[in-house]
Amino acid sequence: MRNKWIVSIDDYRKASRWHLPKMITDYLDGGALDEITMRANRDSLDALKLRQRSMVDLSNLATDTTVLGQSVALPLIVAPMGMLTIFHPGSDPAVARAAVAAGSIFIHSAWAGCSLEEVAPFAGDKLWAQVAFWKDPAETESYIQRARKVGVKTLVVAGDVGSASKRERDLHHGLSMPPKPPVIDYFTTAMRPQWIYRWLTGRKMTYGNYTIGGKALRMNQMNQWMANNKNSSASWDDFAKLRQQWDGKLVIKGIMDAEDAARAVAEGADGVFISNHGGRQFDAQPATIDVLPSIVEAVDGKAEVYLDGGIRRGHDIVKAVGLGATAVMAGRPFAYALATGGEPAVAKAFKILHDEFKGAMGFVGKTNVASIDESVFALPSRVNDYV
Ligand SMILES: Cc1cc2nc3c(=O)[nH]c(=O)nc-3n(C[C@H](O)[C@H](O)[C@H](O)COP(=O)(O)O)c2cc1C
Repeated sequence: MRNKWIVSIDDYRKASRWHLPKMITDYLDGGALDEITMRANRDSLDALKLRQRSMVDLSNLATDTTVLGQSVALPLIVAPMGMLTIFHPGSDPAVARAAVAAGSIFIHSAWAGCSLEEVAPFAGDKLWAQVAFWKDPAETESYIQRARKVGVKTLVVAGDVGSASKRERDLHHGLSMPPKPPVIDYFTTAMRPQWIYRWLTGRKMTYGNYTIGGKALRMNQMNQWMANNKNSSASWDDFAKLRQQWDGKLVIKGIMDAEDAARAVAEGADGVFISNHGGRQFDAQPATIDVLPSIVEAVDGKAEVYLDGGIRRGHDIVKAVGLGATAVMAGRPFAYALATGGEPAVAKAFKILHDEFKGAMGFVGKTNVASIDESVFALPSRVNDYV
């Protein structure tokens, strides 16, 4: 599908299939095990119905708001995604530039293809950095220092990666490091020559944040590096220590439980980021929108609450904000666009979601983000019937 015919995020999902080999499409689209949680994210959002209001003066409708004191054009932020280089050589800088131009924020993944230093010039103060706890605390500390040095004001702790995920689509494609694809994948990859051309001529695929011998880690070195550095003992104590070390804003991603949310606030989190990793990690948990009300209650206004997982439409943002989220994050939508057409496509994906959000605000009769609350849900059943 050509870019001019693309009018929705789902159009980008379909279009991205023409630009990526099947094994990469499956890596992007897929979730853990039976993909029940991944589907639940969408199903639960779809089950919520909004209340249309009529004859509301919309001439001054504004979609802008603030997230941890930073202005954004709408409550939508790019979720951290590793390995964006695999979709398009523009990678993290392309997405960061498009996000900034759209008045949003870019969260740089701890497993990003590009280093923090590479992306920082394109994101300015709209850059948040994800931090992981590595076995050697010096590795984590040095990363924090690097974040400080490039002007990052908000760190996002990876809170949901302690256990290993099992994504069966990836296993079928032999997507280990190094990849061991079955013969069929050589044929399907050969049908995407533009991707092969980019792979051969574009930016080399690396895990840009980490180095061996002063050089960015190549993909085939990652397994070993991870095996040496993965820290399975990270706990709230590490979070508390990080809180001492870092005087900027601190967000924790991967919270799915009210008790954990309350603990995060008690340990000094400024933001609680509800996420089930888009259903990519643990396949036996609820949709993120379903746990949002209990987490908002537990946080009790002491921190901001964000949510990701299945956000594909502007009205999804209204639903999440209506249930108490300060903002939502989206991952795959921007990766679909990146794969389809690089930075201009990511910019268009932002515009699609922004226009849809504005339209949905108008339909629910809200003229500013602060006024979006539970009253946006359809009467008479309201939200309790759905969640
Ligand atoms: C290709 C890809 C890579 C991802 N890499 C990371 C990552 O490095 N760190 C992280 O915390 N989450 C990662 N995620 C999860 C996203 O941050 C986010 O939670 C998820 O994509 C939200 O669901 P959505 O894709 O339905 O919007 C990744 C997701 C995708 C699709």
